[in-house]
Amino acid sequence: MSKFQVKWGMLATGGIAETFGRDILLNPDTRGVHDVEHVVVAAAASSSQSRARIFLDKIGAPETAVAYGSYKELAQDPNLDIIYIATPHSHHFQHCMLCLESGKNVLCEKPFTTNAEQLEVLIRTAKEKNLFLMEAAWTRYFPLSLYVREQVTSGAIGTVYRTFADLSMISSPEALPDSHRLVSPDLAGGVLMDTGIYALTWVFQTLFTTQQIPAAPAVLSALRKYRLGTDEQVSMLLTFPRRVGGDAHGIATAGVRTATDPDEKSTAGPAVRIQGSKGEIQVSHPAFRPTKTKLICTDGGIEEREWPQPGPGPGSSWYNGFRNEVGGVLNQEGEGHGMFWEADECAFALRDGRKESQHHTLAESLVIMQVMDQVRKQNGIRFPGKIETAIYPVDI
Ligand SMILES: NC(=O)c1ccc[n+]([C@@H]2O[C@H](COP(=O)([O-])OP(=O)(O)OC[C@H]3O[C@@H](n4cnc5c(N)ncnc54)[C@H](OP(=O)(O)O)[C@@H]3O)[C@@H](O)[C@H]2O)c1
Repeated sequence: MSKFQVKWGMLATGGIAETFGRDILLNPDTRGVHDVEHVVVAAAASSSQSRARIFLDKIGAPETAVAYGSYKELAQDPNLDIIYIATPHSHHFQHCMLCLESGKNVLCEKPFTTNAEQLEVLIRTAKEKNLFLMEAAWTRYFPLSLYVREQVTSGAIGTVYRTFADLSMISSPEALPDSHRLVSPDLAGGVLMDTGIYALTWVFQTLFTTQQIPAAPAVLSALRKYRLGTDEQVSMLLTFPRRVGGDAHGIATAGVRTATDPDEKSTAGPAVRIQGSKGEIQVSHPAFRPTKTKLICTDGGIEEREWPQPGPGPGSSWYNGFRNEVGGVLNQEGEGHGMFWEADECAFALRDGRKESQHHTLAESLVIMQVMDQVRKQNGIRFPGKIETAIYPVDI
């Protein structure tokens, strides 16, 4: 069978770009995907062309891959099917617009933009230009997530009343320079945007995505601020109105002063609990890359499942993972990180002529962005005008 090939351009060469690049260059057969393949044909670093070259070598891209020293050159490369954007979230809007205005399909790292107004402009632009656009909410594409959503929609736990989701990892923001993207207001820092979005992902994919006619939730929230004015802890209570089953509650939390799993041995229990009239589904920490589920039914039935990420396996000398200044680890030898599932969804969409994800619509991304806007508004968090603006182009 001939495979549908997707030619990727990588916009930025930082931590997650490296993880994503290494993952998508794995042979898709290792995960049972036989009809699409990915090739990295170009990368751009904002700082220098040599940085882009080093990046391409590091991820194992073909020697023919082109290194650019500016994002503009990459956006204008006619040899690309899609561009993956991996700059800080403060810059997503401007960089997405650069690519869309250059006629390129886009996969953009989470969170999509700084605010909902920016995302509305992106969605409108993609539609006008008939381009594919998707938020890189990679966890949603895991077979584990598909299984959980299937349990919810099939009624395995009855009427779902509540989802708890937490992604908290103890770290020391004080150890970071004030200019770091995790804490700086100039780079849309703070846990809401960085990790809170994963707690929201679980609340949404169980209480919103699973509804035939989903409705935006009402939002109540509180947060604790770091000394730079960005948030270091956030608690959100979302009420989802439903046509059938009445209101459902989503409780999404994130922080850096406490941990979901303090000893990193799952002693504390699940990171996510989806609770219904006939039982619950538990999902292991970390909410961004869980590998275990437990279905507990009120009739006494229990199903525990493991979901290791596929890859070339032990003995391959191949490693991937994610590390930054506040933590992260390399995965076991030969174990994929799991970012290839979202890349496969892009490939299927491009092959089939779809303009958005089948598992995470642009309309849903927009509702999540509106929730984050409300949380910031309720707690007085605002970023500088040049990264909140929905005007393009603005030099940031
Ligand atoms: N999906 C996930 O699991 C995951 C994990 C971590 C982060 N993320 C998301 O991915 C994005 C990037 O995160 P990261 O951890 O990869 O960050 P990072 O390591 O700091 O890399 C960001 C890259 O963006 C480019 N850049 C352009 N303008 C910049 C500016 N003004 N300040 C800093 N960097 C700038 C730089 O690359 P060049 O010089 O090479 O152009 C830099 O290497 C964020 O939106 C984050 O939320 C996702």
